[in-house]
Amino acid sequence: MRVDLYEKVWIALSLLMLLGFLGAISVSVFVHGISLPGAEQRIDPKTVVNEPPFATPGIRETGPGEYEVYLLSMVWSFVPNEIRVPAGARVTFHATSRDVTHGFTIHGTNLNLMLIPGLVATGTATFNKPGEYLFICHEYCGLAHQTMAGKVIVEEKS
Ligand code: CUA
Repeated sequence: MRVDLYEKVWIALSLLMLLGFLGAISVSVFVHGISLPGAEQRIDPKTVVNEPPFATPGIRETGPGEYEVYLLSMVWSFVPNEIRVPAGARVTFHATSRDVTHGFTIHGTNLNLMLIPGLVATGTATFNKPGEYLFICHEYCGLAHQTMAGKVIVEEKS
């Protein structure tokens, strides 16, 4: 069988591309420590509403200017759907879904999570400027998907 020169070039290029992708994945996993949620973040979506900490979703202060929010999502709402913090607050969100896969993104921040039933997603955002920050579900989850939203209200420091 005769392999044309062009074929050799294309085979070499595709192999190079695969190596490039493999390299990019390796760097994100081993250098930046990016990984999918592990087993320690698993919950049972059927009982999550009855067990702490998601039995009492909401915001708690964990230190000066530091907050954590336990947030539940379900068709078609977030609990809580209004979160108040003072300007400068650093907020860590722990969020999950009771039913289908939802999304969670807060406008004006780069927080963007997938809420997959059975897993807890975690992310942190800092709110320096007072104002209202809309958060929405960005994963199509049924008829009223577009109504699934809430807001973070950042108040002037008193
Ligand atoms: Cu929840 Cu779209």
